[in-house]
Amino acid sequence: MVLFSLASGWAEALAPLPLLATAHAVREFAIASAIFTSTDFWAGMAAGLVAAFVASVVARKRIRAARHEADDARAAARQLDYERDLAQQALVQKLEQERELSKEKMQFESQLTEFEKYASFTQLALGAAHEVNNPLLGILSHLELEMRSASGDHRTEVEQCIEGARRISSAVHGLLDYARPGPLALSQVSLPQLVTDALRFVEHQPLFRGIQLQNCVPLDLPEITADANQLSQILMNLLLNAAQATPSGGSITVLAEKMRFENVIELRIRDTGTGIPEDIQTHVFEPFFTTKRGRGTGLGLSITRNYVRRHGGEIHLNSFPGHGTTVCVSLPIYQAHQLEPVSTEVIA
Ligand SMILES: Nc1ncnc2c1ncn2[C@@H]1O[C@H](COP(=O)(O)OP(=O)(O)O)[C@@H](O)[C@H]1O
Ligand SMILES: [Mg+2]
Repeated sequence: MVLFSLASGWAEALAPLPLLATAHAVREFAIASAIFTSTDFWAGMAAGLVAAFVASVVARKRIRAARHEADDARAAARQLDYERDLAQQALVQKLEQERELSKEKMQFESQLTEFEKYASFTQLALGAAHEVNNPLLGILSHLELEMRSASGDHRTEVEQCIEGARRISSAVHGLLDYARPGPLALSQVSLPQLVTDALRFVEHQPLFRGIQLQNCVPLDLPEITADANQLSQILMNLLLNAAQATPSGGSITVLAEKMRFENVIELRIRDTGTGIPEDIQTHVFEPFFTTKRGRGTGLGLSITRNYVRRHGGEIHLNSFPGHGTTVCVSLPIYQAHQLEPVSTEVIA
């Protein structure tokens, strides 16, 4: 009703306007007023509001559900990443294990080849030694007889023949020692004493002239159960090699110590000589390998290693070309089968 009276007021105010325009405006107003006042409008509004509210609730729920889904998807992706990382780690570990295995296989195969090589070498050596040794002894005794009556140039020639024959003889004995070493004659050996004796023996040899010899073996070192003769030979071979590589003015030092927590003594022979070129370091223990053309048999280190291994020990060397070489021999203080004769196997 209020709206209606307002409309009448408006109609009066608009009286001066042209009649048609006024009628149109009044009609428009009346329609609008009628809309706002109708119950359908408010019902529609209410329904719209309810629909909007319901829609917003539904939308919020959907958004929440979508967020959950996104969170789940992210967690699943993280889980997948984690599992992929685990799988990658497992793969890397497997690859490393396989690499280790193939390395061990290669090492084993090369050891096998080495053993096979030694075995055939042994057969060859034994055969050759038997063939050479007897006639050689005959030749040597004949030359020594001839030496008594020889003089001048002839004497020099005979001397050279004797020297050559002796070299052959020592090589043959080296072969025999290597191929068929006797049983270990075990006894309690004092390493400090053994080293002192060996150094005393070599210090006046021409080869050691001008080289400083140092004995750094502690006197309180425990005695070891070993074959004294073979230990002396080990020491001699290593001292000779050191002297042959060390020029005058250099030094050779013998050191030894008991390994902590182990019943093992490590003996080291260190020289300040030429050193060994890296590419041949892996070959020096092979029988007949020598860089001393015409002067070396190439058996010193292989016999030495053979002796060391027969004692249950190990030998290795560190060499720096131009600076020197250190040979390390580790020997157990006790032998597994102490004082029992060791079988005469061909190769240790
Ligand atoms: N202390 C050392 N310094 C340098 N080279 C060495 C040393 N010991 C061994 N060698 C090398 O190892 C080779 C093999 O030694 P070895 O088996 O005793 O045979 P040989 O002394 O008869 O040559 C030698 O020819 C030498 O090249
Ligand atoms: Mg030698």
